[in-house]
Amino acid sequence: MRMRGRRLLPIVLSLIVIIILCISYISNHLHRDDDNDEQDEFLVHLPPAPATATAADENRVITPSAPGALLNLSNFEYLLASDVCRRAERELLAVLIVTSYAGHDALRAAHRQAIPQSKLAEMGLQRVFLLAALPPREKFVTQPQLASEQTRFGDLLQGNFVEDYRNLSYKHVMGLRWAANECGSGRSKFIIKLDDDIIYDVFHLRRYLESLEVDAPALATSSTLLAGYVLDAKPPIRNQANKWYVTKQEYPHALYPAYLSGWLYITNGATAARLVAEAERVAIFWIDDTWLTGVVRTRLGIPLKRHNAWYSANAEFLDCCVRDLKQHGYECEYFAGPNGGDAKLLVEFLHNVEKCYFDECSKRPAGKSLKETCLASVKSPAPEHGVAHVEPLKLR
Ligand SMILES: *[C@@H]1O[C@H](CO)[C@@H](O)[C@H](O)[C@H]1NC(C)=O
Ligand SMILES: *[C@@H]1O[C@H](CO)[C@@H](O)[C@H](O)[C@H]1NC(C)=O
Repeated sequence: MRMRGRRLLPIVLSLIVIIILCISYISNHLHRDDDNDEQDEFLVHLPPAPATATAADENRVITPSAPGALLNLSNFEYLLASDVCRRAERELLAVLIVTSYAGHDALRAAHRQAIPQSKLAEMGLQRVFLLAALPPREKFVTQPQLASEQTRFGDLLQGNFVEDYRNLSYKHVMGLRWAANECGSGRSKFIIKLDDDIIYDVFHLRRYLESLEVDAPALATSSTLLAGYVLDAKPPIRNQANKWYVTKQEYPHALYPAYLSGWLYITNGATAARLVAEAERVAIFWIDDTWLTGVVRTRLGIPLKRHNAWYSANAEFLDCCVRDLKQHGYECEYFAGPNGGDAKLLVEFLHNVEKCYFDECSKRPAGKSLKETCLASVKSPAPEHGVAHVEPLKLR
């Protein structure tokens, strides 16, 4: 017995050494992966992996929580997915979900140039662009290009339904559902939904959200937060020649319920989750903001918080704002509005407006309002009738 024990001893010892070597190799390996996080910031390429992906990238592919279906699309899946919220080290103030036509790579580049993800992260923010599959008519951008855009920036979330303005409701629900699931409970306090052709003052939004947390904590954390540009009781367009023509079959009533413009609005994970769940129970209507923040919201009895004064329908006004910020350091009266087809305006606007948040701007003098000094061909902003439910909110 003792002889056998002695013979076994070296074998047991070498086994122990091998085990120790394995453990140290594995822990080193894991540690190296941590160090690589910076480079791998982009995340997921779901099928197919791009030709440029390295073996390391492939190992890091993350399967998004199997979505299975999206509304009545039973074969829904992500072509590209992002996990920016799961990667955030602390709870985010907000995640920005930006509806973007897949072919608008230049517009997305302008967004990143206007404020890069690293700077957003310093402000407690993250940004994801919502894309769909490239339509056959797209001549300039290809899926491998989108995959390499993802490899570089990791900020794309692409569904497999085809890009079309009549498919925007799918994209909108995809974005809200992703944000509610990936950025909900403890990951991000707020969700900001916007379009890629919108100019927006991200510094103002941050200040507003921080004030909302302090002054209206119950609303900020409620499942009834919807704030933005309220459009009251608008009639559907019944003129067949119009791009936004709506048939009586699609929407039978004379007026839409009040809704928030999809240009830019603020919500949170709890509210988004309710909208998405309710959207599954309602007939789909293709005008996405009217449907989700109007028809679906009304069924849940969620009130809208009106901030219409923030928005300018005139790109010229925002252009004049940039001019006056540069020349005189005047504050801009508006915080959001369409870019009027000028992708660079967002870059100019954000680069110039930031100084106002270091108290380096002054109020516009009397008689120098934009309306008086900006040579805009003033289109009247969307009509407003009636009053939405607005809860009082004290701003700092
Ligand atoms: C919307 O997406 C579906 C699924 O990809 C597609 O079959 C359909 O043609 C798209 N709708 C339009 C109007 O392009
Ligand atoms: C989904 O619903 C829309 C609106 O009712 C309809 O036009 C479309 O054909 C449906 N799509 C599928 C795949 O069932």
